[in-house]
Amino acid sequence: MEVGIPDSCRRWSETAFSRAVGPLWVWRTFAGRWNGIRQDRHSLFPLRQRDEVRLLRSSSDSASAASISDTDLSAMAWREYHDSTGHSVESLRRAPYVLDWANMPDPFRHYEGVPVLDLPADPPLLETPAIDVLAGVTGATPARDGPAFLSQLLFYSAAISASKRVPSTGYRYALRANPSSGNLHPTEFHFLARGLKEWPDGLYHYRSSAHMAEQRALGDLEMKLTGSSAPIVFVLTSIAWREAWKYRDRAYRYCLHDIGHAWQALSLAIRAIGCDSFATGHFPDEEVAQFCRLHEDEWPMLIVEVRGASIPVREPDARETVWYGGHANQLSKETIVYPSIDGIHNATKLSNRACRSISAAEPAPTGSGEITLPPPASSIRSFGEVARTRRSALDFQGGTQSMSLTQLSAILAATARPLLADFASARFIQLYLYVHRVDGLQPGVYRHWPERGGLERIRSGDQRVAAAGLSLGQDLAGNACVAFSMIGYLAHAASAHGDRGYRYVHFEAGAIGHRLYLAAEALGLGATGIGAFYDAEVNRYLELTPVQGQVVYHFAIGYPVPDPRLEA
Ligand SMILES: Cc1cc2nc3c(=O)[nH]c(=O)nc-3n(C[C@H](O)[C@H](O)[C@H](O)COP(=O)(O)O)c2cc1C
Repeated sequence: MEVGIPDSCRRWSETAFSRAVGPLWVWRTFAGRWNGIRQDRHSLFPLRQRDEVRLLRSSSDSASAASISDTDLSAMAWREYHDSTGHSVESLRRAPYVLDWANMPDPFRHYEGVPVLDLPADPPLLETPAIDVLAGVTGATPARDGPAFLSQLLFYSAAISASKRVPSTGYRYALRANPSSGNLHPTEFHFLARGLKEWPDGLYHYRSSAHMAEQRALGDLEMKLTGSSAPIVFVLTSIAWREAWKYRDRAYRYCLHDIGHAWQALSLAIRAIGCDSFATGHFPDEEVAQFCRLHEDEWPMLIVEVRGASIPVREPDARETVWYGGHANQLSKETIVYPSIDGIHNATKLSNRACRSISAAEPAPTGSGEITLPPPASSIRSFGEVARTRRSALDFQGGTQSMSLTQLSAILAATARPLLADFASARFIQLYLYVHRVDGLQPGVYRHWPERGGLERIRSGDQRVAAAGLSLGQDLAGNACVAFSMIGYLAHAASAHGDRGYRYVHFEAGAIGHRLYLAAEALGLGATGIGAFYDAEVNRYLELTPVQGQVVYHFAIGYPVPDPRLEA
């Protein structure tokens, strides 16, 4: 099992606690730990030293800040949850935690006692270059019938794609096309099929362990809840306990990120096949859960419709629905309840009435940077190959090898494309970059302004210690060529969507993360999502007030060190 908080962090924490923690804690602990590079301890910035910082705020930042007052935010459930699950040196010291391996949840859900349908093995490669799919190009790999179509779609978005073997025990575990914090995979894929050639209409759960579909209901199940008549409608659900087993109260954030990753894994594969998708986040939770007869530990999070001329269709069946349902497998012998997770989930639910319309969020702040990015690098690696070989790097090779500015330009362009969802008319995430080794860019912190493809330098100097230290002491954020803080406009989201907005910000962060993974892989680099960071320290380092945004996700991209445990 991957460990999201690696040993280095534990070592770091112990060291830090033993020294009276002060504003210089990050730098003192990390100085001199990077591969092949000597760090000069005296050149590192103290965390709260502001005189070397040039933070330019665009005028629209202050306008937004004025319209969303701190008082508006204070009483909301999302804020309480977010603040109480932030990592700090203190919080880690207060609550040391030993994993109960005997009670680890099964990462695979099965609905037992229902017909199981095979999805054909070895679907054809999705040949359109991944970087083009990320740029909005639609591929064309027509499937002859429903089983071939579904197999192709799920093989490149949710199926097992590799395994790792632990050398000391010989234990092997599976990795999937979609990434997941700690490889715990809280996300399940359900889908409704209507009028697919050679495939019975009904409701299915994807059994990723065997690349098969469990038929939970047969017949006409028009998705009345979203008014959708699309031939395929996915319902992505989260099993929060899988994630809470390891990450406890903070786990809900990771469930939401993982949904964002799964959404993009699915919707980009849909595009590579030659179809379109649209996601709905604004739906009545209880109705959808009942409609799909989900086990009580599974929560519906996102609905994704699939449409397009290349779906092999026929007339929908007129027959009545027959429910098999099935028995959901027990995931572990004991489920520990985390009231804060139940609390935030309930607070972010919507009733039927609340879903009648979705408000438009205030547009994100706009601005421009003094550095114009060059035209993006290209790559011919196919979407199919990239989606199947994408992996999280355990660490990156430090040293001197840099990435090019055109590669960075392509990666940032991939994050800036529109996201097709009911909640995504305004963007809630802005990227801050900790540039370590990018040709033609001075090391420093930069803010990305996607509208004009520009970068604004807000801090100068070596950021390797800062990036790793802020990422809970994970070396990979310092050894990468570039690391990222995703800053979420949580207040904007809350003012438009109430507590539900908390989900949307994290979905978007996960979606951008997935685009970063695929763009990096397509360009011959590697990437890793980083859910563990010192929240308040990041916000302070970037000089953000809550209304200007707060950190919600970290990321790193560079040259991965080979992982000897990986088996194709
Ligand atoms: C939301 C999220 C948070 C993650 N956080 C970390 C992290 O803090 N540190 C880390 O080394 N890996 C992190 N990862 C990477 C996962 O450990 C990785 O996705 C998982 O082990 C599966 O491996 P794969 O991505 O190669 O399929 C994160 C991944 C996601 C999606």
